[in-house]
Amino acid sequence: MKKVLALALALCMIFALCAVSASAEGKLVGVAMPTKDLQRWNQDGENMKAMLEAEGYSVDLQYASNDVQQQLNQVTNMINNGCDVVVIAAIEGSSLGSALDLAKEKGIPVIAYDRLLMESDAVSYYATFDNYKVGTVQGTYVKEALDLDNAEGPFYMEITAGDPGDNNANYFYSGAMDVLKPYIDEGKIIVKSGQVEFNDVATPTWKTEVAQTRASSILSSFYADGSKIDAWLCSNDSTALGVTNALEDNYDNDEWPIITGQDCDISNVKNMIAGKQSMSVFKDTRTLAAQVVKMIGQILNGEEVDVNDTETYDNNKIVVPSFLCEPVFADVNNYTELLLDSGYYTADQLQ
Ligand code: BGC
Repeated sequence: MKKVLALALALCMIFALCAVSASAEGKLVGVAMPTKDLQRWNQDGENMKAMLEAEGYSVDLQYASNDVQQQLNQVTNMINNGCDVVVIAAIEGSSLGSALDLAKEKGIPVIAYDRLLMESDAVSYYATFDNYKVGTVQGTYVKEALDLDNAEGPFYMEITAGDPGDNNANYFYSGAMDVLKPYIDEGKIIVKSGQVEFNDVATPTWKTEVAQTRASSILSSFYADGSKIDAWLCSNDSTALGVTNALEDNYDNDEWPIITGQDCDISNVKNMIAGKQSMSVFKDTRTLAAQVVKMIGQILNGEEVDVNDTETYDNNKIVVPSFLCEPVFADVNNYTELLLDSGYYTADQLQ
């Protein structure tokens, strides 16, 4: 079973790459990533570069230290330096307008990578994981772990969401809250802090430290009476890490709440194995990169581009044709198969 999974994954990638028929020789692809601070973007960047180079493309890969102006300059340079296609994982979805206008003027296709580029009609395609589904997977995990339909409750839950400048953050939040909000409304889940709305629970730039500070303040302001939190809905792993750090001094292992996450970052998988994080949505960055490489080939060859969603991702100017990959969750029961047997991590990395 494990070998079959690894083989299937390898075949998928080979198929995705082989779909490119015309020569990539002499073509330059710009890849703009938000930051090296988070593990996933390093993997995304490296995968994209390796897969594109294996196809024969030249690659201009840039990281922007989560600095919007720096990313704007990088993308502008990519376009002025003759990139044939530009792939962008935006820091702030609405801030690249002038660079995108320039791409349009020069007829350069732009692919939004993982995060949608907003307020622009210059975005050709969007490739991502199904962001709303990421949220529903997290919400459903909490619902099932607490057995909300049968258990009496009430349960205490707190919420930590993502960066308001990242269009994905709202999808994650909405997907999870569509599952959990009814239980809040009926009183089976109590959010003692009263912080439920997206703007109250958001974490600017997804920073671990910001999530940790807010979590510590919630613990001291609302749980100093000794009441224990049963679940902490976190939109991703960097924020889950902040929440876990804040809980360290107050919770013993056997009273640790259910904590959700996303990305299967190494520190978080280690926490999962240690019983300090319950799950993390696994978005295999190899799958997304392979899909984008395939898109690039199709665009440059003038072929029909594979998309599977032409309705959801309205960027306030156009509905961007999208390819949504499927997210799944990893937890302590299936991480070996998903993360080790598939070759995503080696056992040593999780020691
Ligand atoms: C990505 C997540 C990631 C978050 C923080 C989101 O746009 O979809 O996978 O955890 O950014 O980098």
